[in-house]
Amino acid sequence: MRLLRTAWISRLAHLGRAASRPPAGPGAGHAGRLALVPPAWGWKVPGAGRAAHVAAAPEYQATTTQVCGLFPFTAGSGTPAIGTPVGRHQLFGEVVCLDPLAWLRAGLVVNPGEFVLGQPGVGKSTLVKRQLTGAVATGTRVLVLGDTKPDYSMLVEHLGGQVIRVGRGMDRINPLDAGPLGAALRQMSGPDAQALRWEVRSRRLSLLMALCTLIRGAPITNAEEVILGRAIDLLDERLTSAQPAVTDVLAVIEQGPDTLRAAARTDTPAGFRDRVSDLVFTLDLLCTGSLAGVFDGPTTKPIDLDVPAVSVDISRVGAAGDHLLTAAMLSTWAHGYAMVDAAAALAEQHLAPRRSYLAVMDELWRALRGAPGLVEYADSLTRLNRAKGMGTIMITHSLADLDALSSEEDRAKARGFVERCAITVMGGLPPRELARVCEITPLTGPEQELVTSWSAPDSWQPGAKHPGRGKYLIKTGERLGIPVELSLVGAEYDLYDTDQAIRAATPPARPALSAIAAELEATHEQ
Ligand SMILES: Nc1ncnc2c1ncn2[C@@H]1O[C@H](COP(=O)(O)OP(=O)(O)OP(=O)(O)O)[C@@H](O)[C@H]1O
Ligand SMILES: [Mg+2]
Repeated sequence: MRLLRTAWISRLAHLGRAASRPPAGPGAGHAGRLALVPPAWGWKVPGAGRAAHVAAAPEYQATTTQVCGLFPFTAGSGTPAIGTPVGRHQLFGEVVCLDPLAWLRAGLVVNPGEFVLGQPGVGKSTLVKRQLTGAVATGTRVLVLGDTKPDYSMLVEHLGGQVIRVGRGMDRINPLDAGPLGAALRQMSGPDAQALRWEVRSRRLSLLMALCTLIRGAPITNAEEVILGRAIDLLDERLTSAQPAVTDVLAVIEQGPDTLRAAARTDTPAGFRDRVSDLVFTLDLLCTGSLAGVFDGPTTKPIDLDVPAVSVDISRVGAAGDHLLTAAMLSTWAHGYAMVDAAAALAEQHLAPRRSYLAVMDELWRALRGAPGLVEYADSLTRLNRAKGMGTIMITHSLADLDALSSEEDRAKARGFVERCAITVMGGLPPRELARVCEITPLTGPEQELVTSWSAPDSWQPGAKHPGRGKYLIKTGERLGIPVELSLVGAEYDLYDTDQAIRAATPPARPALSAIAAELEATHEQ
């Protein structure tokens, strides 16, 4: 036994000596090449860069609960470690974090806009849901402005947030409701309150004009805009404690009081009726046509300023047609942005803490396609996000949706939405779609190949994972894209699952069909 151990020790010592020899010259043979691996401290000869001292690595002790988040791989491409962890770098395994607001604060990007683009089902909403979860955990308030599926309700409820379900017989949004801005106004006084009052007026008027444009399919005239504005002022004076509704605007215009006649630059009731004849029908349709029951009364469930997340579920109105969906989206955006502005106004007056918001606008283009001129409205709402401390995440399947906009002016403005987003995230996309993306966000050849490789499943195997599911390329300006893969954890599997409905509806095998299948199989075998 002792002999055996001594033999091993002498063999190890020999190996050590061989390894400590300096590298052999170019003529050295096989043995010389073997000795090229230096010992731990380097070659033991002058000028060979031997380390005089190698410090022992620091040792730490902690419980498994604490060290489970330890990530020992320190080398990598230098991916951003600021924001919510959204997955691992596909080449280096490094954790990649993403948060438009945190990236803006850290000076990594110049605006807090994120644009998420990818084929249906690749996991766009999943990535966004992960970001929302992280945002709520770090104190950012989340606003889902128009959930058309609904995709986000379960998560928002899980996070302790508020879900407003808009639809006939359900929650109603009054487009003229000052909402959170009205609540802020009641707490303020002096010139700031006066400025906010003007803001409320202009918001009411722009949303009402946008809705009228949608119903009519064409912009409203200057005279009609003046009359609508005066009608809103009149109602504001009359209804000191309640919020005006579209039905009130219609009623006051039909009455035609002196102030409105003066605004319409006409002295006679007949002249006034002539001026407002189209407008009256447009407003009437807003209350009685396809939109009836959704926008024609007081708001039933006001947005709660104190919850960590709010989602406005408009999936029920989507089923009733595109017009109604667009109207719901416009009202939801207006309501959501009013909430952010109210919070900012209260913070400026030191009446509430300063907060940051992350808003999600899914299926943006569906709303913009509704009528010419609506892009202008969305543009005016979203332009000042950075100043408001508000990040936005816009999601869409395809930039081809831009082409559905009727005028070149609208298309250029809509392209501006994408250009204004400092961060572009791409899921699997076909080559044709990528060509469009490259016009706005330049991509290198390998980046394009990577994104297209995620777009098509390579097998017909039932249940095989889509090659692009959970894979994204994060691009910011001219920097190289970060390819990241997201893995779901814990409750995320259930909370983010949007395939439930399809799985639940999988039909059971029908006996008749099974018999046919068996017969076919038998024929095939003969
Ligand atoms: N990384 C992942 N691992 C496992 N499942 C995932 C992953 N990413 C997404 N999924 C699942 O894939 C399904 C589709 O994802 P998701 O709804 O996010 O796709 P989408 O791109 O938003 O689709 P759509 O275009 O229809 O809105 C969901 O059930 C989700 O749970
Ligand atoms: Mg989705």
